[in-house]
Amino acid sequence: MTKEIEIVEADARDIEEVMTVMNLAFDPRNGEAWTAAQCAGALSLPGSVLFLARSGRRALGFALARSVADEAELLLIAVRPDSQRSGAGKTLVGKIVSSYASKAIKKIHLEVRTDNPALAFYGRLGFVQSGLRRNYYRRSDGQFTDAATLSLEIV
Ligand SMILES: CC(C)(COP(=O)(O)OP(=O)(O)OC[C@H]1O[C@@H](n2cnc3c(N)ncnc32)[C@H](O)[C@@H]1OP(=O)(O)O)[C@@H](O)C(=O)NCCC(=O)NCCS
Repeated sequence: MTKEIEIVEADARDIEEVMTVMNLAFDPRNGEAWTAAQCAGALSLPGSVLFLARSGRRALGFALARSVADEAELLLIAVRPDSQRSGAGKTLVGKIVSSYASKAIKKIHLEVRTDNPALAFYGRLGFVQSGLRRNYYRRSDGQFTDAATLSLEIV
């Protein structure tokens, strides 16, 4: 029987589990994965939230976001490849949205490589493109790729 996806709020003690998912989910050639130190640094800032998606004791994915005043940024989201397309990513974003909505945050922004399939994922969740940053990401092969900036109004 498939276990339910549970979303739990996490903290710096959970970074090792976050890094396991991070290293499985992000292709190192794209240079998008963060280090444990970068995650810890972001988490130490006011307004940061980290959620883990679990199935039993297994971490399926995580989402890290930060708010400043009445706006927030989804900094990172990832689901382990063997658990993608089963609703974990959507459930994590839903949790971020409800958490920030309860704090009167009105908008969530994010940046994503324009050639990342996650662009379609964000579109399904209602994010709309608000801008384009040319040559924003540098891949390990030296190539540059554009970043789309997306946002979601929280009602
Ligand atoms: C992006 C990511 C987090 C999505 O997680 P997921 O758990 O697979 O997504 P879900 O199963 O919750 O999908 C939610 C919706 O998005 C759609 N979707 C998800 N991935 C998609 C893809 N690659 N292409 C098209 N649609 C996609 C799903 O079909 C689903 O649609 P539905 O609501 O009609 O059923 C996951 O693919 C991932 O970890 N990617 C690698 C890391 C990354 O690039 N993160 C984003 C940049 S920070």
